Amino acid sequence: MADLSTIKEPIQSEFEEFKRHYSSVFVSTDPLTQQILDYVKSSNGKMMRPILVLLIAKSIGIVNERVFNVAASFELLHSGSLIHDDVVDESNLRRGNPSVNCVFDNKLAVLSGDYVISLALQQMSLSGNIANVGILSELSKQLSEGEIMQLESISDASISEETYFEVITRKTASLFSYAAKAAALTAGADAKTIAAFQEYGRIAGLCFQIRDDIFDYFKSDQIGKPTANDLHEGKLTLPAIYSLTHSESDWTEVISSIKNGTATDAQIKSVIDYTISSGGIDYAYATMEKLKRQAIEALPSDIPADLMQALIDYISVIVSRKS
Ligand code: IPE
Ligand code: IPE
Ligand code: MG
Ligand code: MG
Repeated sequence: MADLSTIKEPIQSEFEEFKRHYSSVFVSTDPLTQQILDYVKSSNGKMMRPILVLLIAKSIGIVNERVFNVAASFELLHSGSLIHDDVVDESNLRRGNPSVNCVFDNKLAVLSGDYVISLALQQMSLSGNIANVGILSELSKQLSEGEIMQLESISDASISEETYFEVITRKTASLFSYAAKAAALTAGADAKTIAAFQEYGRIAGLCFQIRDDIFDYFKSDQIGKPTANDLHEGKLTLPAIYSLTHSESDWTEVISSIKNGTATDAQIKSVIDYTISSGGIDYAYATMEKLKRQAIEALPSDIPADLMQALIDYISVIVSRKS
C-alpha cells in the first residue's frame, strides 16, 4: 500500500533540496523571534503541500528555485496558520510537541504566526511571478474566512453538511487547490492544465480535512495532537453531522450544549459512541472514496506514468493516513 515515502519516490532529490531551502528561510534578526522560529522548525510536519507542489511541477517538467519558493511559501502559510489555529482552538499539542502557545504564550504565538506568514509572502514574491502573489493573497483570505465561518457556525444551533463543506473548502481545501494552481503556473502549464490541477488539489484538500476530522473520534498516540478536541470546542464534523441528522432520537439538547460549551464529558462520549456505532465514520470514508475518484478523474491525462501514479497514491495516502 502506498505511503508517504512511496509518493515522494519520483521527487526524492528535489524533496531533499527543498528541505534545505525551507530550513534556510527561518531567520530573524531578533533573538526571541529566532528562538520561536527555531522551535517551530524543530518539528516539521508531513509537508503534504510542498510534496504536492513538487509532484505537479515535475509532472509538467520543471522543478527549479522558483518552484522551491512556491512550495516553501505554502508550507510557511500552513505552519503560520497552525500556530494561530492552536491559539484559537486552545490546543496544547502540535506535531507531537507542545504547541507554540503552550511553550511561549498566546501573544507570542499570534505575533510569531504573523512572522511566519510574512515569510510565506516573501517566498512567494521571490518566485518572480506577480500572479503567484495574487494566488497567495486569495488563499489567505479564504483560509481566514473559513476559520471565521467555523467560529460563527459554532454559535449557530443548526448543523448541516452544506455548512461543513463550505468551511472546509475555505479553511483547508483552499491551501491544496491554490498550491496546485501555483505549482502548475510556475512550471509553465497551459490554462487548461492549471485548472485541472487546481480542481484535483481542491478535492484532495476536502479529503484531507475529512480524514483529519475522523482522527478526533479515536484515541491515538500517532497523530501528535489532541483528540475529542473538536467536540469540546463546539465543532461537529462530518461523521457526527451525518449520524445525528439521520438519527431517530432527538439530539437537539446535546447539540446545543456542545455548541455553547456546556456539554459534559458523558454527553461528548455519547456523541462519539453513537457516531461510531451508527455508521458516521463509515459515511465519512465513503464520502472520501467518492471524492477520491473525482480527484483522479480531474487529473490531466498527459503526464508521465510515475508522476500520475504518485498523484493517485497521494490521495490514497490522504484517505488512509495514520497521522
Ligand atoms: C493539519 O495539517 C491541519 C489540517 C488542515 C487538518 P497537516 O496534518 O498537514 O499538518 P502537519 O503539517 O503535517 O503537521
Ligand atoms: C485546520 O484546522 C487548521 C487550519 C485550516 C488553519 P483544525 O483545527 O481542524 O486542525 P487541527 O486538528 O488543529 O490540526
Ligand atoms: Mg481549528
Ligand atoms: Mg485545531
